[in-house]
Amino acid sequence: MSILRINGCRELDGVIRIQGAKNSVLPIMAASILTEGVSVIHNCPRLADVDVSMRILEHLGCEVHRNEESVYINSAGLIRSDIPDALMREMRSSVVFLGAILARTGETRLSLPGGCELGPRPIDLHIAALRQMGAEINEIGGKITCRAKYLKGCRINLATPSVGATENAMLTACRCKGTTIITNPAREPEIEDLQNYLRKLGINICGAGTSLITVEGTDAKKDVEHTIISDRIVAATYLSAVASAGGLIRLEEANPRHIMTVIDVLKEIGCDIEINDIDKGIITASRKGKLKAARPITTSPYPGFPTDAQPPIMAAVLKADGTTVFVENIFENRYRHVEELKRLGADIKTEGKTAIVCGVNHLSGAELRSTDLRGGAALVVAALGAEGTSDISGLHHIDRGYDCLEAALHCLGADVKHIT
Ligand code: EPZ
Repeated sequence: MSILRINGCRELDGVIRIQGAKNSVLPIMAASILTEGVSVIHNCPRLADVDVSMRILEHLGCEVHRNEESVYINSAGLIRSDIPDALMREMRSSVVFLGAILARTGETRLSLPGGCELGPRPIDLHIAALRQMGAEINEIGGKITCRAKYLKGCRINLATPSVGATENAMLTACRCKGTTIITNPAREPEIEDLQNYLRKLGINICGAGTSLITVEGTDAKKDVEHTIISDRIVAATYLSAVASAGGLIRLEEANPRHIMTVIDVLKEIGCDIEINDIDKGIITASRKGKLKAARPITTSPYPGFPTDAQPPIMAAVLKADGTTVFVENIFENRYRHVEELKRLGADIKTEGKTAIVCGVNHLSGAELRSTDLRGGAALVVAALGAEGTSDISGLHHIDRGYDCLEAALHCLGADVKHIT
C-alpha cells in the first residue's frame, strides 16, 4: 500500500502550472469517436481516469497513444459498441460513452458507471434524454442496452442541470436528424470546452455556458487538434493548500474566471489573491497570520460555488477564527472526508446537507484514509496545516484527478514523501 507522508505547518513557496481539466478531457475523449478521423488532444493531464478512457477507446477498436501531454486518437478503426463492466466501474465519466457510441454505431451495451461514492448517482436524466431522441434503452441488473435505428432532434429539458446528462445529450444530438434544443443544461466551463471541440469536428452547435444549447445533427468527418482548458478544481485545491499552510505561491496556466466564487471566499477569509495576468492565467496567492471564518458556503451548479471545491475549502478553514457553515446541495453524501479531518483535531458537526466547522487553534498530524477524489485532496490540504506527520492512504482516489500531486507539492516547498 502507498501512502503520502506530509510534515505540516511548513509555509509554501513556489510556482505550479495547473494541469488540463479532468472533467473536460474525459467527455472530449468520448466525443472523439463521433468522427472516423484523428483527434490530437493537447494539455491532457496524466490521470488514472484518462488512462481508463484510453483503455475504453482501445477496447472499442480505436488507435490511441500518448506523447507527453498530448493524446492521439484515431477512431477510424472502431468496431465494437460495448464497454466491459470492469472499465465502466472505474469512473463516473465512462457513462458519457453511452451517447458517443450510440451516435457513432446506433447501439451500445454497457453497465452503470463507477466513480466517487458521493451518494446515489443515478443516470435517469441521461436515459430520459436519449429516449426522447429515439433511443430504445433497457436497463436490467445494472446493465444498459441501447439501440437507435433513427435519432431525431427534439427539445430536451433537464430537470437538474446535470453535467453528465448534458454531455450525453450533446453527443447524441450530433447524430440526430434535425435540431435538438437542450434547456436547463449544465453551464460548467467543461461544457463549453466540449462544444468548442465538437465545432472543430464540424458539428453545428451553440449555446454552451448558457441556459439553452442548440445542436444541428451533422456528420463529423474531420481530423482535429484541441487543447484542454485548465482544471479549475485543481487550481482551487492549490489555493486552498496555501490558505491552510501559509506562505506564497504562484499558479500558472490557471483560469481565474472559472473560480471567482472560490477566490472570493479565500479573500474573505484573509488570503491575499492577485490575478497578475488573466490571459496567461497567473494567480499569486498568500496567507500570513490567522484566517477568519467565511460566511455560509452553499454549493450549487456553475456559476455557483462548485461542489468539488467544498472539501478542500473546508480543509482550509479548519483553523480559521470563528465558525464556517457549509451547505452541500449537489450530492447527498459529500462529507465523507469529515470523519477523517476530525482525526487531525478538527471540530466539525454534520447534519444532512449542512456541515458546521468551528475553528480550532491547531491540528495534529494523524493517519488518514482518502474516501473519494476531492475528499482525498481535502486531507492533503488539511495535513499541510497540521503540526507533525500525517500519513494519507487511499491514494488511488487522488490519482484519478491530480497529476503528479507529490511532485507538485514539492514544487511548492511542502515536506511530502510518497512511501510504498
Ligand atoms: C460531474 O459529475 C463531475 N464529474 C463531478 O466531478 C462534479 O462534482 C459534478 O459534475 C457536479 O458538478 C465529471 O465531470 C466526470 P451531475 P456528474 O450529473 O456528471 C443528479 C470530481 O470530483 N443526477 O451534474 O456525475 C446527481 O445525483 C467529480 O471531479 C440525477 O439525479 O454530476 C447529482 O445530485 C465528482 N440524475 C446532481 O444531479 C442524473 O441522471 C449533479 O450531478 C444525473 C445526475
